[in-house]
Amino acid sequence: MGVVDVFDAVAGTYDEARRRLVPCFDAFYGAAVEVATPPLRAALAAGRTPEVLDLGAGTGLLSLLLAAAVPGVRLTLVDAAPAMLARATAELSARSVPHRTVQADLSDELPPGRYDAVVSALAIHHLDDSGKRALYRRAAAALTPGGVFVNAEQVAGPTPALDQRYDEVWMARIAELGASPQEIAGSRERMRYDLPATVGDQCRWLAEAGLDDVDCYFKEWRFAVFGGRAR
Ligand SMILES: C[S@@+](CC[C@H](N)C(=O)[O-])C[C@H]1O[C@@H](n2cnc3c(N)ncnc32)[C@H](O)[C@@H]1O
Repeated sequence: MGVVDVFDAVAGTYDEARRRLVPCFDAFYGAAVEVATPPLRAALAAGRTPEVLDLGAGTGLLSLLLAAAVPGVRLTLVDAAPAMLARATAELSARSVPHRTVQADLSDELPPGRYDAVVSALAIHHLDDSGKRALYRRAAAALTPGGVFVNAEQVAGPTPALDQRYDEVWMARIAELGASPQEIAGSRERMRYDLPATVGDQCRWLAEAGLDDVDCYFKEWRFAVFGGRAR
C-alpha cells in the first residue's frame, strides 16, 4: 500500500480526527488563510475571479476555509487519492463553491493556469526533497504577479534532538486532546510515509524558486506555515 492508498482508505473518517491530531488546528490553518487572502481580495477588487490551486487538497479542509474567508474564489484541488477528492467535492458542492478536482500526482505538471494563491497543507512532506524543490519551482512559476505560495506543513526539527522533542510534544498534546489509540496508531502508520524537511531548507528552496518575502509566518513545534510572494 502506498501513501495515496493509505489516505484513500481513511477518507470517510479523516476530517473528524483532524482537530485531535493537529493540536494547533485553528492557528495553523488560520495562518495559511491569512497569508493567502490579500492577493485574493486584490483580484476581487480588480473585478477578477481569484484563482486558488490547492496541492494535496485531500478532503478540501484548507480549500473550504479559504472559500469561507474569501467568498467568490474559484478553487482547483489536486490530489492523487480519488476518495479524498470525492469528499472535497461533496463539501464544496454543498456550499456552492466553484471548483474543479484534478486527480494527479504532485510530481506531475500542475493544472494549467495562473493562480493568485497556490496553497498546500500537510501534503508536500510526502515528496522527497528533490520532489519538494521541483514542486516549489512549478508552484512559483504558476503564480500571478503578486500571488502567494503558502504551505501549512509538518516539518522536521533542525537537529535530531529537536525532532525527537517535536514528536514527544505532539504525542503528549494529542493524548491530552483525546486522540484514541486507534487514531494514534493510524496516524503513526501514515507517518511511515513522511519525508519532512526543515523550515530553513524549505524557505531557502522557495527563495531559490524565485519568490520574494519568504518567511515562516507561524510555527508550533512540528507544525509550520511558510511561503512567499511572486514578483
Ligand atoms: C495529510 S493529507 C492532507 C490533506 C489536506 N490538505 C488537509 O490539510 O487536510 C495528505 C494528502 O496528500 C495527498 N498526497 C500525498 N502524496 C501525494 C502525491 N505524491 N501526489 C498527490 N497527492 C498526494 C494524499 O492523498 C492526501 O490526501
